[in-house]
Amino acid sequence: MWGGRFSEAPDAVMEAINASISFDQRLAAQDIAGSRAHAAMLAAVGILSDRDAEAIREGLLTVLSEIETGQARFSAALEDIHMNVEARLTELIGEPAKRLHTARSRNDQVATDFRLWVRERCDEAEGLLVTLLRACLAQAEAGADWVMPGFTHLQTAQPVTWGHHMMAYVEMFARDLSRLRDARARMNECPLGAAALAGTGFPVDREMTARELGFDRPMANSLDAVSDRDFALEFLSVATISAMHLSRLAEELVIWSSAQFRFVRLSDRWSTGSSIMPQKRNPDAAELLRAKIGRILGANVALLTVMKGLPLAYSKDMQEDKEQVFDASDSWLLSLRAMAGMVADMTAERETLRAAAASGFSTATDLADWLVRELGLPFREAHHVTGALVAMAEARGCELAELSLGEMRGVHGGITEGVFGVLTVEASVASRRSYGGTAPERVREQVARWREVLG
Ligand code: ARG
Repeated sequence: MWGGRFSEAPDAVMEAINASISFDQRLAAQDIAGSRAHAAMLAAVGILSDRDAEAIREGLLTVLSEIETGQARFSAALEDIHMNVEARLTELIGEPAKRLHTARSRNDQVATDFRLWVRERCDEAEGLLVTLLRACLAQAEAGADWVMPGFTHLQTAQPVTWGHHMMAYVEMFARDLSRLRDARARMNECPLGAAALAGTGFPVDREMTARELGFDRPMANSLDAVSDRDFALEFLSVATISAMHLSRLAEELVIWSSAQFRFVRLSDRWSTGSSIMPQKRNPDAAELLRAKIGRILGANVALLTVMKGLPLAYSKDMQEDKEQVFDASDSWLLSLRAMAGMVADMTAERETLRAAAASGFSTATDLADWLVRELGLPFREAHHVTGALVAMAEARGCELAELSLGEMRGVHGGITEGVFGVLTVEASVASRRSYGGTAPERVREQVARWREVLG
């Protein structure tokens, strides 16, 4: 590759630390697309003859099909995918292949390939997020008025609806989608033509290569083009935040599918058994989803750490970008697929949810609010009276609605029969009609709104 300057071959360990072909072969299709665009441009501006450009075009297609069909033999001595593709092209077509690298460096080449690869993963993730959103929406629509306990501190707080809980995740995943679209739009500029770092003296047409590769425009600064990886970091950041959301829902599914909760039943397709305990239905996919954020955040931290402190422009450190992004991307996309499948398949146990919502004095706030509204008590006083009623019910081992009017009057003489109207969980959720509240009508409005947005 650079034999002109060297008289000794690299040490075997040098080769081992230097070569990236074992992983960057995943960039083969992008590398070949980039080279085809580059060759077409070189011909268009008269740097390559049309005959050479045609031979390169055909040859690259052959190389691609060899790689795709598993016939390609990669060599670590050739370091990376870029040199492997070029070497094979040279074997196939000879002389014209040696002209391909005119006005180009591996620095702008790899930056372009990697952007193309990450951009494709953005498009894939976008589709998966939409599928996941639809699965959550379907759950929300089916259970818009199913009552369940809402928690704070994982202690029963106030009744909410199943639909409302599912729609909370719709909001989160929709923000992930919006972040992803922002990142994709920002990364869609083409580094090709920046060459090694300073641009090139050849009369290249960077608008043309950018257009051919589906970029919005060429990157404006050649140093920036070859030396930043913020597009990959943005992708990892989006993936990390999304994986955090997935992990929270996964944690809820683990808890909810337990024998102690039984709020949801995961389908057979999304559960596993135990080799020893015949009764088990383990939520393994949910557990793994809960864990995947470790690798994704790890990749994010790793790449950020690689990049910080690197002087401009290219340094070989940056070769460490790919494995992190590949692994995080694989983990994230698989997680999105798994969550969408699990959510679409799971069954909310309506009766169990309702029973759980009705226990634990979940309508105590409704009782306090009633005292404020109907008797004109200051909220702090109403809170105190309600607390005393809860203590009484707890001592008797019953729910608030099971106290008699007489017992209630013993705590506050102003209480009337009307109080029982606010103590059911259905009345509680129906009353929470404030914008964004849990009332079934509000949930249905949000479902309809998101259906419209998603089309
Ligand atoms: N395999 C290299 C990488 O991933 C390609 C760029 C090599 N450039 C260089 N100047 N050695 O970063």
